[in-house]
Amino acid sequence: MKIANLLPLAFAAAACSTAHPTRPTTAPGVTTRSAPPANARETQFVDSLLSVMTLEEKIGQLTMSPAEGLQTGPQRPAGSTAQVRAGLVGSIIGVWGADRTHALQKLVVEESPHRIPLLFSLDVLHGYRTVFPVPLAEAASFDPSLAQSDARIAAIEATANGIVWTFAPMVDIARDPRWGRIVEGAGEEPYLGSVMAAARVRGFQGTRLDDPASMLATAKHYAGYGASEGGRDYATAELSERTFWSTYLPPFRAAISAGVGSIMPAFSAVNGSPPHASAWMLRDVLRNRLGFGGLVVSDWTAVMELVKHGVAATSGEAGQLAMRAGVDVDMSDGVYADSLPARARTNQQLRSDIDESARRVLRAKWELGLFSDPYHGASEEKAARVTRSSANIEAARTAARESIVLLKNDRATLPLSRDIKSLAVIGALAADAKSAMGSWTIVGQANEAVSVLDGLRHVNPAMRIRYAAGASPEGADTTGIPEAEALARDADAIVLVLGEDADRTGEAESRAFLELPLGQLQLAQRVSRAARGKPVVVVLMNGRPLAIPWIADSMPAIVESWYLGSEHGNAVADVLFGAYSPSGKLPVTFPRATGQVPLYLAHTNSGRPPNPSDKYTTGYNDLSSTQLFPFGFGLSYSAFRYGDVRLSRDNIRAGDSLGVIVTVSNVGARDADEVVQLYLRDDVASVARPLKQLVRFRRVHIRAGASETVTFSLGAEDLSFYDLQMRRVVEPGGFTLFAGTSSVDTKEAHFVVAGDTLVLEPATPRMQ
Ligand code: NOJ
Repeated sequence: MKIANLLPLAFAAAACSTAHPTRPTTAPGVTTRSAPPANARETQFVDSLLSVMTLEEKIGQLTMSPAEGLQTGPQRPAGSTAQVRAGLVGSIIGVWGADRTHALQKLVVEESPHRIPLLFSLDVLHGYRTVFPVPLAEAASFDPSLAQSDARIAAIEATANGIVWTFAPMVDIARDPRWGRIVEGAGEEPYLGSVMAAARVRGFQGTRLDDPASMLATAKHYAGYGASEGGRDYATAELSERTFWSTYLPPFRAAISAGVGSIMPAFSAVNGSPPHASAWMLRDVLRNRLGFGGLVVSDWTAVMELVKHGVAATSGEAGQLAMRAGVDVDMSDGVYADSLPARARTNQQLRSDIDESARRVLRAKWELGLFSDPYHGASEEKAARVTRSSANIEAARTAARESIVLLKNDRATLPLSRDIKSLAVIGALAADAKSAMGSWTIVGQANEAVSVLDGLRHVNPAMRIRYAAGASPEGADTTGIPEAEALARDADAIVLVLGEDADRTGEAESRAFLELPLGQLQLAQRVSRAARGKPVVVVLMNGRPLAIPWIADSMPAIVESWYLGSEHGNAVADVLFGAYSPSGKLPVTFPRATGQVPLYLAHTNSGRPPNPSDKYTTGYNDLSSTQLFPFGFGLSYSAFRYGDVRLSRDNIRAGDSLGVIVTVSNVGARDADEVVQLYLRDDVASVARPLKQLVRFRRVHIRAGASETVTFSLGAEDLSFYDLQMRRVVEPGGFTLFAGTSSVDTKEAHFVVAGDTLVLEPATPRMQ
């Protein structure tokens, strides 16, 4: 049933679909994007609707109820149909499936006073039922087109099943792998994070939100969450303004430029101020400086948690504070619904804040086309057709292959021959299809995912494959090691799967130790001895960099497989047996020991850079200050040679663009992909600049014996930074560019920016 048929005439005339808001420009300037201009019909429709809504109904639009069974504490279950029918719920989290969402939507559009459709929301992070690699893994592909098409497939499946709003992409920069949520983002570098953020937004949202295959995306968690102290989830973050603007904000900026429809503030306090209560963050920066015009949705119970943060005495105060700060939608705790009506009756400012937020929710519903089709095209028939289609599963396998990083391959241990007679597969994670899917797979089914063991079984039916768990990923139980040793002694080759259970990554899964638990280390050491020189390939399954110095030194081959989703095992088998040449690169630095973190590429030099022969330099007295595996690192079965870095000019004025040309030759024996990386250093500036930061990259396919020439163009934004007055500027002086196959294996070129300092943005609004 079309809701327009049910609306009062004045509304019905205006209730039709609209184009997705005009894409913002990415031109340098104060405002990245202004709020998308509402068209006249939309404005008229929303205004007339608002004019007949009661205060409670408006607050209802700002209330997101959890599905029954999800709620904890004094929240509002979606099962409370009385509230839904009364129009006192605007959105629902955690109900999916076309029939289930239809039933609730029907209730609203047929029985509630204004027939305003609900928004059904869910965390669709890396796939819906077809599960793609976890975002950190997919970042290792350095392939934004892949990220975009995977997000598109997730949106196609999710929307067919009734979901119109996802809480993704997570765009937090993470430089501390103790923080479990590092798995949800694109790693440590702002440029990679920005490119991936924009790609995922485009994938989820498509070109028009009212396309039934499009869903509203959410860039989260705004901002600085990844800097939580000690890597402890939810802990406070102490950040300099410069770091906030130059490291943590860029992916949000990129998501906004890509037209992201919603933003979720972070749980943690940043410099003492929880973002859910920060008008500086949500209004001064997000709306006024970054030009965001969409919805701000709270994190789960985060409004109520302002009391525990100690910035509100009661949940009522918390609700008022969050509303004043600019949180439009209250997820799951019911604080707005419980406390705002009474407060707003005597507070004109609060009433106008509520109007503003309700308007944004109604606009989002309009832009999704829900006033024309409240079901957004979802149906059980369509869901059955598009969910886990063979094309989607093939796409998951492609994504999984591209996300694998080959960390070590001594004496060409890999690829293994398909003709080996017997293979020992050791390690409990090898048989763990649930872990293969990774964290945040709400709808994905473990029995539909391919474990490493199952993937290897498909390689050659004549190959004898024997499996032993050996030791569990987390436990200290080593009683299974003798069986694993026996298998290793008998086999022609050994695949040893090590790492962490996927449940030990993600939200609330911080770790104090990045080292392998003793049980797994002992397993590795004893299997290595039992193998007596036969090939041992370590396959890592993990959602964060691990500190594995013994493995890195002693094992001949190491494959980083992260959690690759539905097709994990098939993709690993493709790489181990040479059907695919690995091409992924690390989106994060791997430390030698937990004590080194945070350890990341884009650090500054210090006045006393590390020098092992000089005690009075930065570093440790008990460990090298270098990383185990650097950012951007990843080997191939082929080999690439980089030519000199050529520049269009070696002297430019600030604001000019610069062409950078790199020729890469595939000098190995097989066709393969390479990720060409470009890094920048501002040699001398008014503030200390990173020794190297990623500014461009391109994945290219190069046939054996052939060469590819890659051209990059850099502009003022790439050379800019926040100066002492917190203006975004390009200063004159010398710059160095580094092009190569990783951040440490590069060729250099130099250029000079002449003339005066160029100011791209005035000073940032002072942090509060
Ligand atoms: C809490 C998480 O921080 C957030 O990322 C997620 O979207 C919400 N829960 C909803 O599940």
